[in-house]
Amino acid sequence: MKFELIQKGKGTKARAGKITTDHGEIETPIFMPVGTIGSVKGLHLKDLSDDVQAQIILGNTYHLYLRPGLDTLEKAGGLHKFNGWNGPILTDSGGFQVFSLGDIRKITEEGAEFRSHIDGSRHLFTPENVMDTQRTIGADIIMAFDECTPGDADYGYAKKSLSLTQRWLERCVKRFDETKPKYGYNQTLFPIVQGCVYKDLRIKAAEHVASLDREGYAIGGLSVGESEEDMYAMVEVVNEVLPEEKPRYLMGVGTPVNILENIDRGVDMFDCVMPTRNGRNGMLFTWNGIMNMRNQKWANDFTPLDPAGTSYVDQTYTKAYVRHLYKSKEMLGAQIGSIHNLTFYLSLVREARKQILDGTFPEWKARMVKQLSRRL
Ligand code: GUN
Repeated sequence: MKFELIQKGKGTKARAGKITTDHGEIETPIFMPVGTIGSVKGLHLKDLSDDVQAQIILGNTYHLYLRPGLDTLEKAGGLHKFNGWNGPILTDSGGFQVFSLGDIRKITEEGAEFRSHIDGSRHLFTPENVMDTQRTIGADIIMAFDECTPGDADYGYAKKSLSLTQRWLERCVKRFDETKPKYGYNQTLFPIVQGCVYKDLRIKAAEHVASLDREGYAIGGLSVGESEEDMYAMVEVVNEVLPEEKPRYLMGVGTPVNILENIDRGVDMFDCVMPTRNGRNGMLFTWNGIMNMRNQKWANDFTPLDPAGTSYVDQTYTKAYVRHLYKSKEMLGAQIGSIHNLTFYLSLVREARKQILDGTFPEWKARMVKQLSRRL
């Protein structure tokens, strides 16, 4: 993998760059649609490439390991062959998903023991077997196995949790460097910075990952219950320490405004379930603000879904019709909403990149932050 820093913005920490992987290029800042089980829910590959113009998608180790399982993925020749997506793929390590299991998981020095949400069977994820699993899934970018510390953890817990994540990271790096890709293209490992909302822990964590000299870094443990102010403050602190010439990925964030604020603070990559999850429920993000498509207000509005939108669904369907689909629980509504929201998220980061290159990002961002959070 290669990262080229093309331009730093003026009056901002925002950057425009380009990542090159063996499955193609990614222009940054970028948003990565989430494909938990290998599919971006409800979307065909042609929706993803033609409408959404996705450049990289995400998969989850936890889900793919449980189903379809490593045997099938290996026989298929990896996830790209299995799901037909030929562009870059990033897999999350399971650190976050296992953490979300609450009572049905136990964290020890060795790793995380958990019960499958599918059939209750017992499993153990360790830094070593999570590296091997991600080798088998075959993502271009794989994530270290970490403990995602909750946003409301006290200092003592956050400190202990960070030490564990750091010891796990050393084990991940060792295993990753001792093993080879299985399918003839390169893979790279991104460490994850934890440290909750505590500045000194975040600095320590960022210094530790930077010392490992990998090809890119992730910031985790944010948007997990802390305030937005804390999230922004932590991103600032961490990005002061991370090397400028490597891409920075903020995990699981966020709203359109969160994305612009964090681009402003020097983040290059994002993922979040929000555009697809909210899209399935009828909450649509647009350049003019947020629309709840279940609202009575749209019942007789026969104008296009989003006149400023660039996807096929925006111009083809009316607001009244899309509202009717949601009210009737028709799966087409969920599909339209997902395509619309993802297309919007990708146009948002594309426009942000253009504004960075033009040197106009700060003024544009200030205008957008007001506009995007309006309720229509
Ligand atoms: N997704 C969102 N936040 C996190 C995190 O802290 N760790 C991992 N592994 N995935 C995430």
